[in-house]
Amino acid sequence: MKQDIILEAIDVVKHFGTGGGWLSRYPVVQAVDGVSLEVRRGETFAIVGESGCGKSTLARLLMQLLTPTSGDVLFEGRQVSAIKGQELRRLRRDMQFIFQDPFSSLNPRMTVGKLVGEPLEIHAPDLSAQDRRAKVAELLRQVGLRAEHADRYPHEFSGGQRQRIGIARAVASGPKLIIGDEPVSALDVSVQAQVINLLGDLSRDLGLTLVIIAHDLGVIRHMSDRVAVMYLGRIVEVGTTEDVFADPQHPYTQALLAAVPSMDGAVTDHSETVHGEMPSPFDPPQGCRFHTRCPHAQALCKTQVPTLSTGKRASHQVACHFAETLPAQPRPATAPQKSKTAEARFALYRAATEGGAIAHKEKQDRP
Ligand SMILES: Nc1ncnc2c1ncn2[C@@H]1O[C@H](COP(=O)(O)OP(=O)(O)O)[C@@H](O)[C@H]1O
Ligand code: SF4
Ligand SMILES: [Mg+2]
Repeated sequence: MKQDIILEAIDVVKHFGTGGGWLSRYPVVQAVDGVSLEVRRGETFAIVGESGCGKSTLARLLMQLLTPTSGDVLFEGRQVSAIKGQELRRLRRDMQFIFQDPFSSLNPRMTVGKLVGEPLEIHAPDLSAQDRRAKVAELLRQVGLRAEHADRYPHEFSGGQRQRIGIARAVASGPKLIIGDEPVSALDVSVQAQVINLLGDLSRDLGLTLVIIAHDLGVIRHMSDRVAVMYLGRIVEVGTTEDVFADPQHPYTQALLAAVPSMDGAVTDHSETVHGEMPSPFDPPQGCRFHTRCPHAQALCKTQVPTLSTGKRASHQVACHFAETLPAQPRPATAPQKSKTAEARFALYRAATEGGAIAHKEKQDRP
């Protein structure tokens, strides 16, 4: 087992048939098509890409909520599809999920106390009812809510608060890794910053590994240690956040970054800045899947699939036949400052989001 790798995907494929069995004439959605990645223990790893590129499918494959068509997912060096029984329960405790939509992911008929206490009932059945209540109160405080909120129902809370409840639920079982599928994209921009800060605090305090999925590079910029960029079911670039932001190598990442405003935390709709429509995942382009939208495409791109390979730095990989010869796109003015720890980056995010409007909104969002 590789010591520092907590989660690994090896050539993972997920094709969804739309009916009629595998020999049918019905089309197949190539949602995830050969993704390999490694998440290191303790890091915050971001996966970014346009809507429909396969991020949620990949997240569910990593969590073993979906079975891959082919390929393997390894958690702490063990193939998750082979884990059964008691060990599967432990895996479910060790890997938790935060959903995109804090409105539909919480059972409206359960009190907050019950919602946050439920994972404890499953994973710590020996806790007395009194100890469980005390633990729920502690968890609520940890996510910035109050102990007395335990008696209320989800509809009594704002979107940001509901996401805090979802986070308390995820943290309750004492996981090693949390996967957040666009955990802030349904929230108001100012509330997004608070929830990102909370995730940063928790990952630091609890020594958690985070995998954060986002369609917006601005959101993950200061919170992630490394970032993988996805396009139509494949990873096209992966590297440290500093390297990817300062020196993007793939034309798709370059186009996405050109759309990120220098004001951190602001939201942009990238679909307007990467020209042309995203091709259908039912019939993705041959060769490089980005060739129909790439300003640098050449004949080779239409026939040969570029593989992820190391470019200028060992830690920075890109899947483009012409990465070495493309014009450089340095972004010194807006690249994040070099900071060694995620903690330092969170501090930066905090500084960037501390402003009149946001402070005001934060007050409003408080219970
Ligand atoms: N259960 C499913 N059955 C059929 N197609 C699906 C299913 N889930 C996702 N897809 C398709 O797979 C592609 C990737 O979807 P998704 O993983 O949700 O992307 P993202 O999260 O990046 O928006 C989309 O074309 C979507 O319609
Ligand atoms: S392989 Fe070709 S089409 Fe694909 S990103 Fe590189 S230059 Fe563009
Ligand atoms: Mg999604």
